[in-house]
Amino acid sequence: MFDLSTLPTKLYYINGKRVEQIKKSMIAETERLPCVKADKSRGEEIRQTLKEFKLLRTDAKITSDETFIYLPLIRTLTDAEIREIGDVELLTLDFTILERRKSIEAIVGFKPSYEVIGDIAVLTEAIDNRKEQLVAHALMNRHKNIKVVAKRISAVEGVFRTRKLEIIAGENRTETMHKENGCRYKLDLEKVYFNPRLAGERNKVAAQAARSSVKEEEVLDMFAGVGAFSIQVAIRAPQSHVTAIDINPDAILYLRENMKRNGVNNIDAIEGDISEIYEKFRNTADRIIMNLPKSAYLFLQEALSMLKPHGGILHFYDLEFAYPEEGEEKHDALERAITQAKEKLIAKVQELDEEFRSYSVEIRDARKVKPYAPYAYIIGIDAMIEK
Ligand SMILES: C[S@@+](CC[C@H](N)C(=O)[O-])C[C@H]1O[C@@H](n2cnc3c(N)ncnc32)[C@H](O)[C@@H]1O
Repeated sequence: MFDLSTLPTKLYYINGKRVEQIKKSMIAETERLPCVKADKSRGEEIRQTLKEFKLLRTDAKITSDETFIYLPLIRTLTDAEIREIGDVELLTLDFTILERRKSIEAIVGFKPSYEVIGDIAVLTEAIDNRKEQLVAHALMNRHKNIKVVAKRISAVEGVFRTRKLEIIAGENRTETMHKENGCRYKLDLEKVYFNPRLAGERNKVAAQAARSSVKEEEVLDMFAGVGAFSIQVAIRAPQSHVTAIDINPDAILYLRENMKRNGVNNIDAIEGDISEIYEKFRNTADRIIMNLPKSAYLFLQEALSMLKPHGGILHFYDLEFAYPEEGEEKHDALERAITQAKEKLIAKVQELDEEFRSYSVEIRDARKVKPYAPYAYIIGIDAMIEK
């Protein structure tokens, strides 16, 4: 696969004899792999989707030319997967296989639980101080992009859904810049809510908005935070207009800054309590995003009243618990949680004021978005509401 004569060499003298040896570090292994060829502008988005579907060969080096990016795959894709990703070509190419680096688990001797947002790593499970320092330094040595290591000292709490952090290594700050699906978000982890594990979900909702049959959609993000859903929708569906609402003034400040940073001007960012301002948006929305998993039901009536007179799409997020029953597989328990979420949404519409009870609810999709706790899941539901 290589032309060895082109590789750099080292000279050795053994017993006075000149020995030429190819520098070991320069020998890279290559492997012929199926890959996705995609326009560079969609590279990051497709990389995230493939990673989320566990289809990306993370030990092979992604390549690109002026126009296209080539993403190596674990296996070739099915027609359904190609349709889901959209506008990509399948090829087979040679890829450089990267040397595997030691995992954090291998360095510290146990599997620490953490998430990385921008250049900040947050330990999400309590461990003793000595282990904390071990993990923090392993993270900073192993990942040169991590500049701060913090630990969570409160749950996600309050109306703003924020958490308290304590810095345990690195720079003394909680503000960072996070990249997701080709967008950049500035945010302060203590002042606003942000969860990097929603990247795949935001990609799905933005893809649906981009494929919408409604020409100039009016999208309403009821609990917008720093704008992660809103900005991705606004970019992928540039003909649409997004109203992004949040009660947290800091979230709206970051949202406005993030709109500029991502070159987006089809969003109106509004600070306010949706239960106080929803009347202004009555009968205006084609699509509503309700990302407030524990409490979204409390705002269902407001949401339905804001959909256009004929109805529209609801992206609804729910928290469901499903403890496996005796002999039940974890997977079946999850299916039960998804069914519970679907039935609950339909039942909750029936509990609203009379005018809303006649609306028809067609569940188009329901899925696990992320685990929340052992046996608890955030479930995402796409529902078509006809008024
Ligand atoms: C779970 S976070 C979701 C943030 C964002 N959608 C994201 O994906 O990063 C919920 C957001 O709803 C906001 N919120 C809570 N109650 C609200 C209300 N009554 N009206 C408007 N926003 C509210 C919080 O400030 C928080 O930013």
